[in-house]
Amino acid sequence: MSTEAETQPSTGSRKRTPSYVVQLLQRLPPLVDAARWGQAQRLTQLTDEVASLIEGSSPSLARKLRASRPLNGTRIIPPPTDLLDVLQPAIGLDDVVLPEVARDSCAALIEEQQNREALAAWNVPPCHKILLSGPPGNGKTMLAGALANALDIPFLVARYGGLVDSYLGNTGKNLDKIFEFAASGPCVLFLDEFDSIGVNRAKAGDVGELRRITNQLLLMVDRMPPHVVLVCATNQPQLVDDALRRRFDTRIELGDPSPELRMRLAMKELAPNRCNGTDLRGYASAIAADPQAGVNLDATSKACMAIRRRHALESLAAAQSGETVASGQATHQLPFGPPLPHVAL
Ligand SMILES: Nc1ncnc2c1ncn2[C@@H]1O[C@H](COP(=O)(O)OP(=O)(O)O)[C@@H](O)[C@H]1O
Ligand SMILES: [Mg+2]
Repeated sequence: MSTEAETQPSTGSRKRTPSYVVQLLQRLPPLVDAARWGQAQRLTQLTDEVASLIEGSSPSLARKLRASRPLNGTRIIPPPTDLLDVLQPAIGLDDVVLPEVARDSCAALIEEQQNREALAAWNVPPCHKILLSGPPGNGKTMLAGALANALDIPFLVARYGGLVDSYLGNTGKNLDKIFEFAASGPCVLFLDEFDSIGVNRAKAGDVGELRRITNQLLLMVDRMPPHVVLVCATNQPQLVDDALRRRFDTRIELGDPSPELRMRLAMKELAPNRCNGTDLRGYASAIAADPQAGVNLDATSKACMAIRRRHALESLAAAQSGETVASGQATHQLPFGPPLPHVAL
């Protein structure tokens, strides 16, 4: 096949495109076609060819490409968009403020997922089923997305409006579709409010259909391939069925935040890189100590945002009147508490 790049003159100011780049570019149109028409085998073959071409120059990219191609024999299934959102979160793991045990569990899970094939050679599956619990606003959803970001794989978020059908029989079918799609490649599958579907069978009372869904979930979780990282979140872990709860190989509790955790978050949120170059960390200890800003980390983050907003507006007003506002000089009022003391930085 002849391409423009190949027919360019090799003399003069225009450089000749290296032949492996030409070979790469030649594979783009058939690759797009294969993806578009759901030709799994062709897509796998082309992806392997591209991975081989870039192996020498970008080995980690080649590895990622091989890991993300359709697995042998799988059909390409279009995402059930009425049941799932397919996202690529921008939030990194470093953005999530976590207790040390939680951070260690996440690091271990990421290491195991990144070395899935090496572990398979030892007949050991990587950890891939996480139950996140704790009161609202402490980062369960954020952490699930950050894991997908750290692993560089899609983040599939089940949509509850679509999933839980008033006809419970349909809920089972919807779960089937979600798990079948997730199994088609490496991803993080996130089921929020897990207690509403993984109902404790002992407490399901007469609602046989609820028990049936929990039984079905047990089977699906058992059969889930190790390249799917299942992250389930609940505010009420005691309502989740016992057998189901035992299926998770990693359990992370994000409970009420300690003053130390609130302080860490406030220091992050008020650092110059978040505040247009101004250091507002002098406010961090007052925020970390404020009971209302400490209800959960969401409230802490919002209190920091309020400080940033006030400071931005004061700086703007000062700039317009020719004055300057020093970092932390203004005595701000938290939106819900007593005035913050003047903080010298
Ligand atoms: N651990 C955390 N680290 C940093 N920010 C957090 C954390 N927990 C909560 N937040 C802030 O609160 C918001 C809501 O958190 P979210 O993940 O939705 O909580 P949950 O799912 O536990 O209810 C986040 O978008 C973030 O701004
Ligand atoms: Mg949430």
